[in-house]
Amino acid sequence: MSITGHAKVAGVMGWPIAHSLSPALHGFWIHELGLDAAYIPMAVRPTDFDEAVRALPRLGFRGANVTIPYKERAFQLSAEVDDAARATGAVNTLVVDGDRVTGRNTDVSGYLASLDEAGTGQLDGRVAVVLGAGGAARGIIFGLLSRGAGEIIVVNRTAGKADALVAFFGARVIADSWDRLDRALSRCDLLVNATSLGMTGQDELQLDLSKLKASASVSDIVYRPLETTLLAQARRRGHKTVEGLGMLLHQARPGFSAWFGVDPVVSPRLRQHLVSMLQGKS
Ligand code: ATR
Repeated sequence: MSITGHAKVAGVMGWPIAHSLSPALHGFWIHELGLDAAYIPMAVRPTDFDEAVRALPRLGFRGANVTIPYKERAFQLSAEVDDAARATGAVNTLVVDGDRVTGRNTDVSGYLASLDEAGTGQLDGRVAVVLGAGGAARGIIFGLLSRGAGEIIVVNRTAGKADALVAFFGARVIADSWDRLDRALSRCDLLVNATSLGMTGQDELQLDLSKLKASASVSDIVYRPLETTLLAQARRRGHKTVEGLGMLLHQARPGFSAWFGVDPVVSPRLRQHLVSMLQGKS
């Protein structure tokens, strides 16, 4: 469908931006819903980011997503933020409100929605093991705590970063080391890879899952490849698995709904569209 002069406009800012799947994702929904709207990729240089955010209301944009490397800066520039953004210090969704730009972190709710979709979102009193202590891990830990997780064991190559998360989140979060992972896995209800290990072009995540509690679910934030070695290994051992693509799909919904006024659906057709994009078929 072509757009008119009334079209509602949003987009995604990043540097670089060419590999972002967000234009395909939002474009799919705009087309499916027949909206007079546009969602465009915006390659914004680091020196121009502040100005670009301030320009959103002046250009009549409804808002924008923000991706690498701007999520922390977007947090600082937001006139108002939600709880998830405050806990993570990162904003991935900007919403224009009059002449102000407000910030949200929908990566957290997107991650939880991906667990719900796989039927593993019930975390009351459960034990989670989170591998990694970067920005993604911080958001996931916040989300798991908000769902009532009883204990979260953070395991990270750089111990100081895991310790910082423990200090920030308090008693239900503890840090442990890679060499004691077996012990943590034997008590674990949900294992999360929140590192970049296993991503195409990065080092492989080498884990021995033989001690992992039989009823545990395994989730990976990495979605290139769609099924990581960790997930394939877990699936073969009979564990429920949650792919990283689910988080990407679900984090997009609140922004779309705020900008364009329609709550979109994460359907099998959308998932297939994104899978084709990832596999370079469209
Ligand atoms: P993000 O915002 O996506 O979380 P990040 O803040 O750079 O990105 O964090 C990346 C995570 O992957 C970190 O936990 C990092 O471990 P360190 O804190 O020790 O750097 C982890 N990571 C990346 N490459 C790794 C590797 N080769 N071995 C172990 N951990 C790795």
